[in-house]
Amino acid sequence: MEETIPPMESGNLHDYEVACKEFAWASVDKEFDWSKGSIYNVAYEAIDRHAKNWRRNKIALYSVRADGVVDKHTFGEMSELTSRFASGLLKLGAKKGDRIFVYLDRTPELYISMIGVTKMGGIVGPLFSALGHDAVKDRALDAGANIIITSPYLYERIIPVLDDLIDLKKIVIVGDTEGMCDRCVKFEDVLASGDPEYQAENMAPTDPYIIHYTSGSTGKPKGVLLGHRAMPQQLITSKWVLDLREDDTYWCTADPGWVTGTSYGIFGPWYLGTSIVSYEGRFDARTWYSLLERFKITVWYTAPTALRMLMRAGDELVKEFNFSKLRHVCSVGEPLNAEVIRWAMRTMNKRIHDTWWQTETGAHIICNYPAMTIRPGSMGRPIPGVIAGVVDEEGNEAPPGTEGYLAIRPGWPSMMLGVWRNTPKFREYFEVPGWYISGDLAYRDEDGYFWFLGRADDVIKTSGERLGPFEVESALIEHYAVAEAGVIGKPDELRGEIVKAFITLRPGNEPSEDLKEDITKFVKTRLAYYAYPREIDFVDSLPKTRSGKIMRRVLKAKELGQPVGDLSTLDD
Ligand code: PRX
Repeated sequence: MEETIPPMESGNLHDYEVACKEFAWASVDKEFDWSKGSIYNVAYEAIDRHAKNWRRNKIALYSVRADGVVDKHTFGEMSELTSRFASGLLKLGAKKGDRIFVYLDRTPELYISMIGVTKMGGIVGPLFSALGHDAVKDRALDAGANIIITSPYLYERIIPVLDDLIDLKKIVIVGDTEGMCDRCVKFEDVLASGDPEYQAENMAPTDPYIIHYTSGSTGKPKGVLLGHRAMPQQLITSKWVLDLREDDTYWCTADPGWVTGTSYGIFGPWYLGTSIVSYEGRFDARTWYSLLERFKITVWYTAPTALRMLMRAGDELVKEFNFSKLRHVCSVGEPLNAEVIRWAMRTMNKRIHDTWWQTETGAHIICNYPAMTIRPGSMGRPIPGVIAGVVDEEGNEAPPGTEGYLAIRPGWPSMMLGVWRNTPKFREYFEVPGWYISGDLAYRDEDGYFWFLGRADDVIKTSGERLGPFEVESALIEHYAVAEAGVIGKPDELRGEIVKAFITLRPGNEPSEDLKEDITKFVKTRLAYYAYPREIDFVDSLPKTRSGKIMRRVLKAKELGQPVGDLSTLDD
């Protein structure tokens, strides 16, 4: 018999089938103050609304520093701080619609900045603090960033590219500004200049509140715009899928540089008035387990690579901790192995609920729910109110068990508004009539559960981070010794995929381990610490089409010992 994990006794979504039939998006509107005539703004609904009711003194944020010290902020405090920051930004010259980037570690200032920017009607651009200076430049230049909010050590890191950022007017520094450029202002001065009573700007549903840069298989990362209209979907999925309740303490391990860290690390849970935990430090099995215990986390959202790392850290370690408050775990970003689900059941007696969605979808699309049977290895079923399908190139739905493109019927509330200054890229998602094409391959079983098969393009997922081969190749060829580079994702048991580079050298350079190390360091500092090739092969030539495009497909097939397929376009 097929392996399944039975439903939990209760869940905010009691009956999936009934909800699929009866649910109407309009029913979520009443959860928001704007449905009663209040201002329309994500920041208002996430924070200010709660500061006006009994949640004023409830903890909104437990921000745990890398050294374990905790800063706590109530909804009331967050409301005042973010109002100060929003109006302080306006005094600095910021305007509605400005792109304001936040390049910070996970500290309270990051959260104050994210909410503050959206409160004054800005488009916030979160940047993961692991990004190097070239990655920051690509994004800030493309978006025409007007302000960057950062810290002294990250400011140091981007000095080499600051002069290239032609639209940049101010740099807000969390810390001391001594010896920094004239455009630098202190975060605390911005706060001090602001008005704690400032009211959020009234926005339109189709006004963007955030720009998330994400990778495709061609070109540099693109700026995906999500709109204030994403609110209902982020709220209802936080209720149905995360299954958040009033007394929960919730921890999302994703950084707000990525969409999980904003849709479900900030906005969704805060629309429900949930207390969230944020941890500044990096992954460490013992530290993570101890945070779950110390904060009595009830719902935990993380990623398969982290879960696999915990699994590797051994069953003995799990036994040292008490997870009695934890109801369930959610997972996102890469395929969740059935083996990991079994491990969590065996060692912690917790279910892991896989969730599938993308930066472009803005919120959950295909998920598991507490009150639904889990089929380990499946991503689950579409959220009520959204239609997903597996289709062929013409948009015909594939029969159960047949591979096809994972697609969604356009028009779900949190669907991206567009791609910043790149309408052709946006249109590419809608080339199959009647569908949004996700770029993933999947099949659906007889009962409507979706199963992930892989990407339909060259996009790499390493430890859950989405990377385009082109951006890694572009960084590589800037190294003095590199002539050409072809980059692929190589399957890896722990990280899902690792970045593998095939490199030809410029005349006068010889392959060596030292050179590999130098190239690795170069990519880490310029692009991002997770983007470097963990494997490098020096080769004499790369397979190319007659028009000179590197055939990554051939590199990958050769690497995996698979047939290389049609080579009729190969140059040589
Ligand atoms: O390939 C799919 C994979 O991550 C891609 C989206 O990446 P990103 O925009 O960075 O968003 C990640 C978090 C929302 C998808 O096209 N992916 C996401 N979730 C899953 C997944 N692959 C398998 N199983 C999942 N649950």
